[in-house]
Amino acid sequence: MIYCRAEDTSGGGGGVSNVERLDKRLAATGKWSRKEARALVREGRVLVDGRPCRVPEEKVEEGAAVTVDGAAVSSGGPVYLMLHKPAGVVSSTDEPGERTVLDLLGEEYRNLGLFPAGRLDKDTEGLILLTNDGPLAHRLLSPRHHVDKVYYMEVDGVLDQDDVEAVRAGVVLGDGYACLPGELELLSNGSAHITIQEGKYHQVKRMLASRGKRVTYLKRVGFGPLALDEDLPKGAFRPLTGEELESLFE
Ligand code: URA
Repeated sequence: MIYCRAEDTSGGGGGVSNVERLDKRLAATGKWSRKEARALVREGRVLVDGRPCRVPEEKVEEGAAVTVDGAAVSSGGPVYLMLHKPAGVVSSTDEPGERTVLDLLGEEYRNLGLFPAGRLDKDTEGLILLTNDGPLAHRLLSPRHHVDKVYYMEVDGVLDQDDVEAVRAGVVLGDGYACLPGELELLSNGSAHITIQEGKYHQVKRMLASRGKRVTYLKRVGFGPLALDEDLPKGAFRPLTGEELESLFE
């Protein structure tokens, strides 16, 4: 798998135009990263108006017929990206004065109506699904669907079996809210994986605070059937694979 980074987007033309670089046009479908798109073009698998084009930077007209391996390529379909959110970036789409998850994407992804399916705190790292598929995001986030979210965390203090049992029973937060039962898997005295099915504001931090422990590091490593790609560097993103997409829709 080839990964995308915002730095990869240099040399992208700019300005309003009815022509677009071929690699950008392919990447905008969300099926391939910009680098994968370039590789497809160089391999001769892409035809523009029936003619092979091996130049990724080639400008193509908006109305040109583009095919990959004989299949028509159309932009405008749903897009699904896995992003490794770094700390210091907010997971909203537009927040003045802040770097948002959309700022990490290449410009070809900017106008596709992408939004994060669920939020992470500014200081939390890890897996965010970016999509423009509202119904899917709604299903994944609805409490009725009990989608697992798995976090790796480090705390100030020592985690023990009492914490495991409290999480399993459903922690009661400081404001009296009783969390759904979760799972705590101890990794060391001060680190664990925690699996929860809700996404309340600061939920993991508040759960641990009610156990008298402060979360010092938090990273989401799983969301439903998706696992954070260990090879995806912080700040990088990639389209979901066919297998990942299938698992999401199951
Ligand atoms: N729980 C938190 O406390 N913060 C997050 O970012 C996600 C879950």
